[in-house]
Amino acid sequence: MKFEKSILCIGAGYVGGPTMAMIAHKCPDCKVTVVDIDKERIRQWNSDVLPIYEPGLDEIVKATRGRNLFFSTEIEKGIKEAEIIFVSVNTPTKLFGAGAGMAADLQYWEKTARQIKRYADADKIIVEKSTLPVKTALAMERILTSSDNEIHFEVLSNPEFLAEGTAIKDLEEPDRVLIGSKETDRGVRARDELVEIYATWIPRERIVTSNIWSSELSKLVANAFLAQRISSINSVTALCEKTDADVTEVARAVGMDSRVGNKFLKASIGFGGSCFKKDILNLVYLCRQYGLDEVASYWEGVIRINEYQKDRFVLTMLGAMFNTLAGKRVCLFGFAFKADTGDTRESPAISIAKRLIEERAELVISDPKALKNAVKDLEGLDGTVRYMEDPYEASYGCDALAVMTEWGLYKDLDYERVYRSMAQPAFIFDGRNILDHKRLFEIGFNVFPIGKPALTHF
Ligand code: UDX
Repeated sequence: MKFEKSILCIGAGYVGGPTMAMIAHKCPDCKVTVVDIDKERIRQWNSDVLPIYEPGLDEIVKATRGRNLFFSTEIEKGIKEAEIIFVSVNTPTKLFGAGAGMAADLQYWEKTARQIKRYADADKIIVEKSTLPVKTALAMERILTSSDNEIHFEVLSNPEFLAEGTAIKDLEEPDRVLIGSKETDRGVRARDELVEIYATWIPRERIVTSNIWSSELSKLVANAFLAQRISSINSVTALCEKTDADVTEVARAVGMDSRVGNKFLKASIGFGGSCFKKDILNLVYLCRQYGLDEVASYWEGVIRINEYQKDRFVLTMLGAMFNTLAGKRVCLFGFAFKADTGDTRESPAISIAKRLIEERAELVISDPKALKNAVKDLEGLDGTVRYMEDPYEASYGCDALAVMTEWGLYKDLDYERVYRSMAQPAFIFDGRNILDHKRLFEIGFNVFPIGKPALTHF
């Protein structure tokens, strides 16, 4: 079959896979190929069990794979064939050298730029999809145009705002699509070409264009703002616990102001996920590089509160359980960084589990999707950790339950049965405020929510 356009995406991860599946689904005239150096990952994308779990993803991939969506390891062929190349490789926090622990590690991204240059034999539009420090597009362009060949590469920035667990919905009905380009004729033409692809299914007023630096920066700032809201409400939980105020009531009252809005104000043990911390660190590093120390410290505060919140949770457990957790059995309900995903990257459950092990507690970890990752995250730790998917089995004989992830299934358990099977006195620490605290208290539990008065029988 002859396709109108050939699109390539380098990087078959959480962003590249679902985004390309959506483009293939909405634009049957485009041939969409996703390549990755990781053979195993490509094999999974071509199998019945996709490497990531996203509601709705399986259906779209099944409908398009082999028709106009292809997963392959043939990067060279992919580059030659495509007119538009999305770059969606990972840019983790750099772990070595200058900027270690803060700056983005751009080695995979640069390698990709060099590959594109080596194999391309005609003009291409290059679309940055990975979240990158501001001015990376410039570096990309320099690498691509560093020889005397005649090929023209036009670099666009098109950050992805999808959240895990709702990727398909976010891709189908995004709040906005942002495309940054140069203001030159060629830049604008390339931008318009990408706009046309998205306009197949997204109303034009939601497709926003900007200069390329604004686009790169917007992604970092969007994530920093979202994380800041969580740290703001989480900082208030500490105060609520001291003053008998209830954080849910405070969040409701504050969020009803339409200028503030009511979303992303759920108190928790802290934010996790692959983006928030990485992007804020990146923003902080960028500010420091430009000598903007006050701005850097301001954003650093968002991460500091997040660390504080996790530590505070463990200290609450310790204080409530008579200042010793040694030899006590604690069951963690959930390990994923949020519900509806098996992803545990930067999950607050990781640091909480590690802290509990330091206190010599014995852990039993339960999660419907994330146990495989949990095993990897806690590998090599000195301590007793067991993994059980069934929450009844997991909580059996435990001294305490701690909710780490807001999975719906934990709301509907038979807590009378759970209570009867636990050691007494039984404790529940609800790190997500999802349970019916009053009822749990009536059953006999000592209940410690986040940012609300504790309900205890002592
Ligand atoms: C986030 C952004 O939402 C997305 O736009 C960006 O592209 C990538 O980063 P994601 O990491 O998938 O997406 O998850 P998100 O739903 O934003 O949640 C992040 C963390 O914040 C989770 O750990 C979640 O549990 C926590 N959270 C969220 C809260 O603690 N309280 C809230 O009110 C909302």
